[in-house]
Amino acid sequence: MLRIGVLVSGGGTNLQAIIDAIAAGKITNASIEIVISNNPGAYALTRAEQNGIEHICISPKNYADRGAFNRALLEKLEEYKLDLIVLAGCMVVLPPELIDKYQNRIINIHPALIPSFCGKGYYGLHVHEEVLKRGVKLTGATVHFVDAGTDTGPIILQKAVEVQWGDSPEILQKRVMEQAEWQIMPQAINLIANGKVEVIDGKVKIKE
Ligand code: GRF
Repeated sequence: MLRIGVLVSGGGTNLQAIIDAIAAGKITNASIEIVISNNPGAYALTRAEQNGIEHICISPKNYADRGAFNRALLEKLEEYKLDLIVLAGCMVVLPPELIDKYQNRIINIHPALIPSFCGKGYYGLHVHEEVLKRGVKLTGATVHFVDAGTDTGPIILQKAVEVQWGDSPEILQKRVMEQAEWQIMPQAINLIANGKVEVIDGKVKIKE
């Protein structure tokens, strides 16, 4: 059984997609052990509560400095003996020690087709604004392992979504979530939970 910790900051619709996929048997051999938010008001915490999942807020604002926050976060994650950390709309810069320690055991969902529209500054609605500004016809979402860079880790799954004339950033964001994010995030977790994901030379091989 893959023990998962989910880090969130906001609405938690990706968290919900994971919860639903586990309940529906679309993710097997995995369980969410803890949901951690840096934001006390995150609706994701309510979703965890409603689904009987342990949850906690660890906010940098409650610690004297970044080092103290990093230690608290790391300790909490260690306590749950996690096999996989899932960033599902997590807006916090992760402690470098965490990234070192959990190599190829942290995954993130990015709302674009990496390596387009990613890297520093590309988060939230801004990603979709830039997609619309450039006029690309396809965008999508990417699930990738997290390394020390921003959106640079090995890519696990991607799904393309059409951009339509007249889209607003909000409409496009919703389409990308519905058609890509909520599908490939659970799929990626299921593949990992069932031993189908192998990283070779910085690239992911999905085993048959
Ligand atoms: C998603 O767009 C995800 O791609 C990005 O943050 C957003 C999180 O949304 N990393 P939610 O909290 O899962 O609803």
